[in-house]
Amino acid sequence: MTEEHSRDIPRRVPTTRQPELFQRIGGRKTIERIVDSFYTKVENDKELRPLFPQDLDEGRIKQKLFLEQWLGGEPRYSEQYGHPRLRRRHFPFVISHRSAGRWMRHMTQAFRDCDISETEIAELVATFGPMAKHMVNNNDDVPRQPLEDTFLH
Ligand code: HEM
Repeated sequence: MTEEHSRDIPRRVPTTRQPELFQRIGGRKTIERIVDSFYTKVENDKELRPLFPQDLDEGRIKQKLFLEQWLGGEPRYSEQYGHPRLRRRHFPFVISHRSAGRWMRHMTQAFRDCDISETEIAELVATFGPMAKHMVNNNDDVPRQPLEDTFLH
């Protein structure tokens, strides 16, 4: 592997959860529809919207890449942005239990909008719920500046 190449691909690509779940819900197309639906809900949520940057486009793209990778698709997020370190990446945003709950409710509604079956929604909620809780940081003394490059050199 050339030096340049080894920098492009992070050595610790996170393990994916249930590869078949990604396929069962309809793959990349469905993930993209879910994230678009979710972002529309965030855009219209007076409580959550101020947490997000004015321009939602980049976050929307990253969310699509990450969710695909996390649910068992291609690891395109890590190829482009390095190790997710998701909790650390959320430190600039002060996230309370209440906002995590709203985030989760919007995501669950987005699953329903995309006609995912209730069985699969239950699996998705079981995967997303603990992660949403893990993002709560409002009472933590954490650095609030954005995370820099997370490629492992
Ligand atoms: C299952 C739970 C969650 C997942 C999988 C998730 C995933 C992500 C990802 C992949 C990004 C892009 C990170 C980057 O590369 O910069 C992101 C950004 C963000 N997330 Fe989350 N997140 C979760 C929970 C939450 C919660 C609970 C909140 C707040 C209520 C939140 C608010 C944000 C904000 C404000 C951004 C920045 C968006 C931007 O830069 O445009 N996230 N999230």
